[in-house]
Amino acid sequence: MSIFRSLHLLPESASTFAGNYNWLAAFLLLVSTFFTGLIFVLIVYFSLRYRRRAPDEVPGETQEWAALEITWIVIPLLIALVMFGWGAALFDTMRRPPKQGITINVQGKQWMWKTQHPDGSREINELHVPVGVPIRLVMTSNDVIHDFAIPAMRIKQDVLPGRFTEEWFTATKTGEFELFCSEYCGTDHSLMRGKITVLEPHEYEAWLAAHTISETPAQSGERLFVSQGCQQCHGQIAPSLAGVFGHEQILTDGSHVLADENYLRESILNPQAKIAAGYPPIMPTYTGRLTPDQLFDLVAYIKTLGNESPTTRPNLDTMINQPPAVNSSPGPQRSKE
Ligand code: CUA
Repeated sequence: MSIFRSLHLLPESASTFAGNYNWLAAFLLLVSTFFTGLIFVLIVYFSLRYRRRAPDEVPGETQEWAALEITWIVIPLLIALVMFGWGAALFDTMRRPPKQGITINVQGKQWMWKTQHPDGSREINELHVPVGVPIRLVMTSNDVIHDFAIPAMRIKQDVLPGRFTEEWFTATKTGEFELFCSEYCGTDHSLMRGKITVLEPHEYEAWLAAHTISETPAQSGERLFVSQGCQQCHGQIAPSLAGVFGHEQILTDGSHVLADENYLRESILNPQAKIAAGYPPIMPTYTGRLTPDQLFDLVAYIKTLGNESPTTRPNLDTMINQPPAVNSSPGPQRSKE
């Protein structure tokens, strides 16, 4: 990898994904280069070797060579399967955040990023995170499609209006890294960039403590829960929300759905989409009645219901030095650079 680094072909590698990601990229590049070269050389060689030498020349009869044909089918197939297996294993790791870790809300809007920590601390075009702790980003857009990309962490994910998307990473080194919007989103798309600052855990805690927060998102959410009248139904004619988050819910059609942030969001904005089994479809929609911030707050509050350890002040000690990924499938080698 050092050749990539010295030629500046790769951004810095600062997450647990980066090593494996780099090796996979190098493997794809190597295989493509090899076969491009091989085909190029063979085209030149064959066109010289088998060119027509006289105007009346007729080529001799050729025989099929089964062994050769099988070889050039089987070898590329095996190489392609390695690419698929390796890529799928890495993709799976990148799509499944570990249970422990910090969840940070991200809002994209033309043309800035707003981030919010579990305790309520907010930032604009910046994000401070502790090293060695899984960071899960739950993201939405206030207007058009954006994309939250941190090259040094090897993550990027579209940020869409009308739903939550997520991505996660665990930083492996402290320092400052660039953050980009990597989906063209209008005039100032190219200015929609920012900075990720990775701190030692105690520095992160000090950074959080330096912010005076009047209310955590969960506290604001609790106020909303009352002012919007949610508690008038939930727990009585509507399902209790205690312990809903993070568990499978059974719907009226018998199917199951995992109650994640996106499910809570959809159930608030479009309650008829997925009806909990045993309850009538009577909830009114809250589309247009909540700002994106209020939605995040409400979801944050619902997450604390029936949950003994609300995540407002994460205990970093329990999150550090966890295995880098919760991927049970062995996958190809996970190399450290
Ligand atoms: Cu936001 Cu490009």
